[in-house]
Amino acid sequence: MRVRIGAAVAAALLAVTTAVAPAAGAAAGQSSRPSPGEPGAGDPYFPLAGNGGYDAVHYDLDLRYQPPTPAPAPLTGELDGVATITIVPTRHLTRFDLDLRGLEVESVAVRGRPAEFTREGDELIITPKTILPRGKAVDVVVTYGGATGRPTDIEGALYGWVTTRDGAMVASEPEGSMTWFPVNDHPTDKATYDVAVTVPEGLVAVGNGDLVGATTQDGRTTWSWSSREPMASYLVTASVGNYELRQTTTPDGLPLIDAIDRDLPPSATAGLAQTAEMIAFFEGRFGPYPFSSYGAIVDDDSVGYALETQTRPIYSRRATESTVAHELAHQWMGNSVSPARWQDIWLNEGWATYAEWLWAEHDGGPTAAARFDEVMAIPADNSFWQVVVADPGPLGLFAGAVYDRGAATLYALRSQIGADAFDRLSMEWPSRHADSTATTEDFQALAEKVSGQDLAEFFDVWVRTAGKPML
Ligand code: ARG
Ligand code: ZN
Repeated sequence: MRVRIGAAVAAALLAVTTAVAPAAGAAAGQSSRPSPGEPGAGDPYFPLAGNGGYDAVHYDLDLRYQPPTPAPAPLTGELDGVATITIVPTRHLTRFDLDLRGLEVESVAVRGRPAEFTREGDELIITPKTILPRGKAVDVVVTYGGATGRPTDIEGALYGWVTTRDGAMVASEPEGSMTWFPVNDHPTDKATYDVAVTVPEGLVAVGNGDLVGATTQDGRTTWSWSSREPMASYLVTASVGNYELRQTTTPDGLPLIDAIDRDLPPSATAGLAQTAEMIAFFEGRFGPYPFSSYGAIVDDDSVGYALETQTRPIYSRRATESTVAHELAHQWMGNSVSPARWQDIWLNEGWATYAEWLWAEHDGGPTAAARFDEVMAIPADNSFWQVVVADPGPLGLFAGAVYDRGAATLYALRSQIGADAFDRLSMEWPSRHADSTATTEDFQALAEKVSGQDLAEFFDVWVRTAGKPML
């Protein structure tokens, strides 16, 4: 399922996990001696995801995609791309990596000059002709392509560029963007994106952010999308399908662009009907909606889940009201403020699940109190309580407890610090860390600041230890 890791990279991985924590990477950046970038960003769960030595600030992806030819052909498409990546070295850089799994690299150029490259596991290792000076932005151009399939994450769930009968569903959490473009694949390196996808005329390619244009020539249409706000790599999409584009505006003037598969019945999208009301509702809780547009992608194929792709969540076959509320809440909680390490994912999923509770209560459904009681009714000997929410392990990222115990933690925190402090926390958390990343420790520190309480024991009990909290 994952490309086998070569010996050199395995050695490097060891170096990353033992020596190159982010602090050590920063220290290396302070030295003026030219050195290579690390092959990973130092995340304990996915040590080789992301890279050291540079900051990627912008991706310009120019892709061409041919979906599978009509069934019963195998589900394989053809993707060809030119990725122009603007990087700023954080040290004098002799060599650096991008993450890329599968696909063939045809050529690499740095500062307009051909660069040497090799592949080792999921690392594309690039050696420019000359040392790249620290702090000076350079463009890296990677020409690549090949057959697409249906990649899976470490749990075996479909992710990345997932080939479908009539296109592709692109949902890359946590480190699946590397299955479709060369990338510094870790949330700590957010960037802006311009993505253009050329597909057979009649199909639609949907990206994040604003639609710049669509032009058709020789039976192919190029769809161009632009994301001006920084985005974590796992939130980038460029899904392709037999979509109808529906462009509207909320009463507050926010552009909505929905891409709805033409083969779906109207019932599949009933949950989108209250999108504008939901945005207004969450703005009242979390502050202004953080991006310049919104919308939904609803495909008639399935990856088995929905993902909060930035400004444009993607849904498998059906967008239910609770899932729509969940993915919308992620725009503040997860997308604007993202996990600094994958173990902090409860800050995404706990908040999004708690937001589902809030919306349901607001909309005349069960109260948040009832949902909390439901979680607390799970018997203490149930394995649900064995997950350490703030450190669920790479195979536990999407465990039920990350969502439900995470939400219950927030509900309990509100009881602990009071409604006023909790309301301030709900607003300050996404604004203080907007377009950035944060940790569980950052969250605890802010909760302590707004409440004036020492919350060490609270967070120990709720998220740092297994076992059912006693109320
Ligand atoms: N973040 C998504 C959600 O809660 C779930 C993503 C699941 N991804 C995966 N690779 N299994 O809406
Ligand atoms: Zn979620």
